[in-house]
Amino acid sequence: MSMTVLAVGDIVGDRAASDLHALLHGGAIPHVDFIVVNGENAAAGRGLTPSLARTILDAGADVITSGNHIWDKIEIKDYIDGTDSVLRPANYPDASPGIGYTIKKVAGWRILVLNVLGVGFMDPPLACPFVITERILRRELQYYDFALIDIHAESTGEKLAFARYFDSLRELRVAAIWGTHTHIPTSDVRILPGGTGFVTDLGMTGPQDGVLGIKTENILTFLRDKMPSRFSVSDGETVLEGVVFTIDEATAQTKKAVRVTASFGA
Ligand SMILES: [Fe+2]
Repeated sequence: MSMTVLAVGDIVGDRAASDLHALLHGGAIPHVDFIVVNGENAAAGRGLTPSLARTILDAGADVITSGNHIWDKIEIKDYIDGTDSVLRPANYPDASPGIGYTIKKVAGWRILVLNVLGVGFMDPPLACPFVITERILRRELQYYDFALIDIHAESTGEKLAFARYFDSLRELRVAAIWGTHTHIPTSDVRILPGGTGFVTDLGMTGPQDGVLGIKTENILTFLRDKMPSRFSVSDGETVLEGVVFTIDEATAQTKKAVRVTASFGA
């Protein structure tokens, strides 16, 4: 038996969130059993609102992960306390609203989904992602069958080192680890020696025009002219970038991992 899991790269902008249903169900993406979407850039490029979270869940996401921009729209603070489907990074302080991991049941299998932030080039200083993740997995071990992890991080080396570490701890049953945050899809989709599916970065789901989903002129004002710039989400066709992992539930190993993409609108 196996289960298919789609991990979807960071949603950039409200329109990408609205387009998600069409992207997932337009025929380019295979039908899967479970969908995890990173939504931290959905609200005009920074943060996530309750209504955009509902849009993403209604489109088919089972869990929304996030990252360093999760609190940029402060209204998410109260909403996140009332749901087990939207995650903030697990290595935020314990007093933070919301949860850093959740356990969902699909076809009788218990899937733990965890979201963690890398520490390289990230503010503010955070608890170690290795320590926090291992502590949670060991504590919850009897309550899940396999785990999926979104490591939201800037550093490619940090993401791969994190994946190799948890791949080496087979007793923790981590079936797949994917990176998010850079918005650039990497071509290293693979299965690590212990059976953990991995990719350094999923890419993004947003307008391909512009720079990482933001209008080019806004970025040039900032980078070329060295002037403050108000960032707005770029126009153009929405492209979804993600990876489908085919997971053997009983062994908690990925058997196959493939990149997928879909586009919508103009
Ligand atoms: Fe981010």
